[in-house]
Formats: sequence, C-alpha cells, structure tokens
Amino acid sequence: MKESANATAANAEVVANASTPLLEATGISKSYRRGVRRKPLRVLVDANLALRSGEIVGLVGENGSGKSTFMKILVGSLNRDGGVLVRNGAFGYCPQEPILYERLKCDEHFDLFGRAYGLDGGFIDRSRDEIYSLLGFEAYRDVRVAELSGGTRAKLNLALALLPDPDILLLDEPYAGFDWDTYLRFWELAVDRRNAGSSVLIISHFVADEERFDRIVHLKDGRTEL
Ligand SMILES: Nc1ncnc2c1ncn2[C@@H]1O[C@H](COP(=O)(O)OP(=O)(O)OP(=O)(O)O)[C@@H](O)[C@H]1O
Ligand SMILES: [Mg+2]
Repeated sequence: MKESANATAANAEVVANASTPLLEATGISKSYRRGVRRKPLRVLVDANLALRSGEIVGLVGENGSGKSTFMKILVGSLNRDGGVLVRNGAFGYCPQEPILYERLKCDEHFDLFGRAYGLDGGFIDRSRDEIYSLLGFEAYRDVRVAELSGGTRAKLNLALALLPDPDILLLDEPYAGFDWDTYLRFWELAVDRRNAGSSVLIISHFVADEERFDRIVHLKDGRTEL
C-alpha cells in the first residue's frame, strides 16, 4: 500500500515537472534608444512565452517585428526594460548572425565552446562527431572559418548551440543558409532532440514550415499572439 502511494506521489512529481516550463517570459518590454533627437523605438510591449520539455515552438513575425530582440532577451545577452524571465535549464543559442572566430578551425571551435560550457573531453568528442555526421560537414573539420562558405558557417553556428545537448534550444533562423538536404537533416535533428525531452524554439520566416511545429507564436506590434 505504501509502495503504491509512493509510486503515485512519484508520478505526480513527474507530471508536475513535465508541466513546469523550462523557460517562462512574462510581460517582456523593450525599447531601443536612438540618440538624443529621436524618440526610443518600442519593439516589445508585452511579449509572453512558456517553453516546456518535449515541444518545438515556432516564433514568427515580419522582418523587424522584434523576434531576434525577444530571443536575445530570453538568452540574457540583451537587457529587458520590464517583465519577468525564469529559466529552469541549460540552454544553447544559435544567433541569427554567426558569432565565429575567423582564424580558428571548426574542430577548434568545438574545443573552445565545449570548455566554456564545462564539458569533458570525451563528451565533446562524441557530440562533435555526431553533429558533423548529422549536418554533413565533417570534411571541413580542419578548415579555418575564414575559408568556409556561408552555409557551412551556418552549420557550425548551429552546431555550437547543439554541442552541450541543452534542455532548451533557442535558434534564430538556423536554416536560412542551408540547402534542401541540410534543411531536412536539421528537422530530423530537431525532432530527435524534442523527443529526448528538449524544448526547441525556432525563429522562422517560412509559412511552409508551419506543420513542422507543435505550436506557433506570432509576434506583432510588440505583442505575442497564439
Ligand atoms: N541595437 C539596436 N539599436 C536600435 N534598433 C535596433 C537594434 N536592434 C534592432 N533594432 C530595431 O528593432 C526592430 C526589431 O529588430 P529585430 O532584429 O529584433 O527584428 P526581427 O524580427 O528579428 O527581424 P528579421 O526578421 O529581419 O530578422 C527593428 O526595427 C530594428 O531596426
Ligand atoms: Mg531577426
């Protein structure tokens, strides 16, 4: 009797954990100051988002609607003016503009970022080889970023977000520079991470993608709409 009561309590805890957001942003606001003569540009007025384990969420909106601004705030690389942000897990971030070191090779990026994430050498090796194979750019492992094509840079940029296998993946237009085959591989990878329990937020432009997401959040006039 006691065992089954304990099992029920344990299940209740699992259910509670599953419904606790890994990331929750409430009432986020942000304006950019633009010098003394021009008034501030209000980009986010009331942006809300809760990300849970095991879902792929799309963040869509017109050019300039504030998608990247919102994601930078979720990541913590940009200060918000107002609102509440709670993160309950480790995250990986793929910025819209790749942040890479021109003089370092692909392999050296994995080592550098892996150490910064605090990963051990064995984990870095396994994760790196898996990502090279999934995104198909192992041939470039010893090539410096300065010599890479735009698409391969985009692969490396995404790879560095995937490297620590984080609970939350925040990806800002990760496949904008990919060919079709790589685009399809990307989705296999996103679904695998989702099925393993990660939460994946993807900024996207393409209406054609919509059926691939578990749900879509629209950003318009500084507000999120379902
Ligand atoms: N550092 C900044 N200083 C001033 N204005 C900025 C800054 N960054 C972005 N903006 C402005 O804020 C608005 C939102 O920009 P943001 O990059 O968040 O949009 P976005 O939805 O990601 O657009 P895109 O689809 O083109 O990537 C735009 O009008 C942009 O010009
Ligand atoms: Mg953007």
